[in-house]
Amino acid sequence: MSISRVSIVGAGLMGAGIAQSIAAAPALVAKKIQVTLVDVTQDRLDNGKKIIHQSLARIAKKKFDGDAAKSGEFVDSILSSIAFKTDAGAAASESDLIIEAIVENLDAKQKLFRDLDTRAPKHAIFASNTSSLPIAEIAKSTLSRRDRFAGLHFFNPVPQMKLVEIVRTKELSQDVFVGLKQLVKDMDKVGVECKDTPGFIVNRLLVPYMLEAVRLVERGDATKEDVDIAMKLGAGYPMGPFELADYVGLDTTQFITEGWYKAGKGLQGKELVQPPESLVKLVGEGKLGRKSGAGFYDYGKK
Ligand code: NAI
Repeated sequence: MSISRVSIVGAGLMGAGIAQSIAAAPALVAKKIQVTLVDVTQDRLDNGKKIIHQSLARIAKKKFDGDAAKSGEFVDSILSSIAFKTDAGAAASESDLIIEAIVENLDAKQKLFRDLDTRAPKHAIFASNTSSLPIAEIAKSTLSRRDRFAGLHFFNPVPQMKLVEIVRTKELSQDVFVGLKQLVKDMDKVGVECKDTPGFIVNRLLVPYMLEAVRLVERGDATKEDVDIAMKLGAGYPMGPFELADYVGLDTTQFITEGWYKAGKGLQGKELVQPPESLVKLVGEGKLGRKSGAGFYDYGKK
């Protein structure tokens, strides 16, 4: 199993981060990996390029201790090694692995993979970065690629976060799994294996935890400020649950929990993921967390 050409579809926060992390990984540079980042318009691609540029510039500043010439060279060499394209089919036709990081919508993901299935070489592997949708459901859109369809769940911000959940459906071949595990290792990240179960590992534990914190405050048992302090100083977490929810985005949190709650079946402890009232209210008011300038906390107008 040799993966030497990777296309990432969706040049948003996650797709840009994944492309950067592959293009900058020394083990993959040594293997002469080719990286292509795809989005629907040139504007969206430019946005992806900007995300990568900013992230690399931050890394270079530390790495080269403020040496502008060396930093510039570092940023340019990685950025120029990534191809940017608006034609996903053309990119897929020259790929061994296609990682999807488009909007979190089952129909959109199925449509994309249905199209790509007709364009990608037979041996190509498909992977989705979905946080909350079943991989097997997305894979259904392909005709004969279900043994080559996996979840590769990265974490935000991708260049800094070491973990990747490698999601294994019942049909995934061992060969493909091993190939993906090696790629994750070559990215200098740590892969953990998980079945195709709602939330995989991290979100399955983290989401009910955040919601339970909201319910605790709704009951008036403690203030959100004290809950955040308690979890940082008492459990050693870098952020409290309210800070974390604001960071992740309250709309994203609501979307994930509603999806699981409605799907329900096979989800033990379903009531744990019922979206709490105050979360729904904040989202309704457009208070989506850090990105909108306010959520559980106020961050000043955006
Ligand atoms: P985003 O909204 O920043 O970026 C999505 C990009 O996909 C946009 O640039 C959009 O133009 C593009 N796109 C939409 N449809 C497309 C299509 N058919 N073909 C090509 N490009 C298309 O979203 P973000 O946050 O990067 O999330 C992407 C995926 O990653 C979602 O499935 C999300 O659930 C998942 N994810 C997000 C995390 C996060 O913290 N934001 C963490 C882990 C996974």
